[in-house]
Amino acid sequence: MWARFLAKSDIQDGARILQVGAGVGYYTAILSHLAGPDGSIFAYEIDLELAKRAALNLAGYNNVTVRHGNAATGLVDEGPFDAVVAFAGVTHIPNVWSGHLAPKAKLLLPLTGIMGSGAMILAQPDSDGFCAKTVGRCGFYHCSGARDDKLAVEIDEMFANAGRLEDWRFRITGGDDTSGFVTFLYEK
Ligand SMILES: C[S@@+](CC[C@H](N)C(=O)[O-])C[C@H]1O[C@@H](n2cnc3c(N)ncnc32)[C@H](O)[C@@H]1O
Repeated sequence: MWARFLAKSDIQDGARILQVGAGVGYYTAILSHLAGPDGSIFAYEIDLELAKRAALNLAGYNNVTVRHGNAATGLVDEGPFDAVVAFAGVTHIPNVWSGHLAPKAKLLLPLTGIMGSGAMILAQPDSDGFCAKTVGRCGFYHCSGARDDKLAVEIDEMFANAGRLEDWRFRITGGDDTSGFVTFLYEK
């Protein structure tokens, strides 16, 4: 699943990547190879024990920095990021990510509903939000700090139409909710 999703994100040599949810670091190592020696991976893990294990597992990876913390609510100022890859499900794009993006950044995010199922999306910033497309069905644990129950219900309603789970284009624009970008969706 991740091989397919990461191939679609087309991460370039030298990319600065924010990883949300490093776990024990397996996919951090893969991101490290994709970005190459000139790239940098900033791998956040909210669970202290997992963050410690990831740091140990990735000790030999010179382009990786493991950080213990909630990546949805606060980041060390290490951007702008060329890519954000989340390994936990969001209902919106938190402001802390949108504020740390390079102009053509790519965000690979699981957009998930109440029970954690939904679609992986690939989003890119534009003048007033993000253009996005779905790249396949997925199910994930929730991303702490990037969830809103009302949006989760809307996401479930949206993906009740299974035809929208892959290759469906839509926009994400800012709403009046200061916690992040909310999803307003329409087919192009
Ligand atoms: C599916 S697991 C990731 C597995 C990981 N990619 C690996 O290779 O082991 C999702 C992880 O996201 C972490 N997580 C959830 N919300 C987070 C947040 N806001 N910031 C950082 N980590 C978060 C969880 O603690 C969990 O370890």
